Amino acid sequence: MNTQELKNLAERLMATDKGLLAMDESTGTCNRRFKALGIPQTEEYRRKYRQMIVTTPHLEESISGAILFEETLHQQTDDGQSFLTILKEKDIIPGIKVDQGTIPLSFFPEETITEGLDGLNERMIGYYLMGLRFAKWRAVIHIDSALPTKTCIAANAFTLARYAAICQQAGIVPIVEPEVLMEGEHTLQTCAAVTQDVLKEVFNALYDQKVCLEGMILKPNMILPGLNCPDQSDIETIAQQTIRSFFKVVPAAVGGVAFLSGGQSPVLATERLNMMQLRYGPQLPWPLTFSFSRAIQQPALEIWKGNDKNVSAAQKALAHRAACNRAARRAEYHP
Ligand code: 13P
Repeated sequence: MNTQELKNLAERLMATDKGLLAMDESTGTCNRRFKALGIPQTEEYRRKYRQMIVTTPHLEESISGAILFEETLHQQTDDGQSFLTILKEKDIIPGIKVDQGTIPLSFFPEETITEGLDGLNERMIGYYLMGLRFAKWRAVIHIDSALPTKTCIAANAFTLARYAAICQQAGIVPIVEPEVLMEGEHTLQTCAAVTQDVLKEVFNALYDQKVCLEGMILKPNMILPGLNCPDQSDIETIAQQTIRSFFKVVPAAVGGVAFLSGGQSPVLATERLNMMQLRYGPQLPWPLTFSFSRAIQQPALEIWKGNDKNVSAAQKALAHRAACNRAARRAEYHP
């Protein structure tokens, strides 16, 4: 493992005030979002959607790396340019979602485990040769009165660490994403306690499997009350709980922390990141940024709606949300 190369890559991904774009919705997720807007759920429309994103003017000013879905790797623009080439020309580092989604955890039917480790070694070697330099694996944790179980946390932590070790062995920076979902009635305090438990277990597994922390990026949820919790906390409290939780359980050596948006509104996700930077920026031991999908792409998708005439307006919305998050990283966002 060339740890220096991994550290340099993680540094480039976390560079200055930029962040990551998670344009890696699986076919199922992408189709669900298309269906809600009446967009045809075909490979051609997914190609057009990704073409709209990668050709967005000025995207590279805010985005250091883009996470792609396997299908996108081989796609091209209308005039035959590969999406990978376009990203590289813009100096946006291409990455790849390598997990293969979740299935119910055996004997724990309300919980999930993420699949995709079989054959991952060989796939990684191929991805590296294609010029991909980072990867993503998402584990999903549900909160309910009796959830998550210790078994679910341990199984997902082990799997995330196996994935991360395989990535680093191939020279690819792993994005380690244990997502504690927002769905539910749980309080902010419950989310904080569960997220801390999950992150402790994840970092124990990463240590056990000798993952180089400087050469990886953590992609966590923010600490938020459940969507159906009557007490919806203010931005200041969420920023405070999130950073205090991370101070307890995220080692200072980690190469970077890049949040998922998880279904928050685009403006709120940006405001919360902005508040964390505003209150805690100088004290943070790791670069703190965004790796949003919905919070950057959803407004653009709603404008585009699958219609070529809307591409330019959609691209403006996309570049705008990316720039807002860039401003938040500098604690300079004003909605
Ligand atoms: P959201 O920002 O929409 O939560 O997506 C982030 C992501 O990459 C999920 O795996």
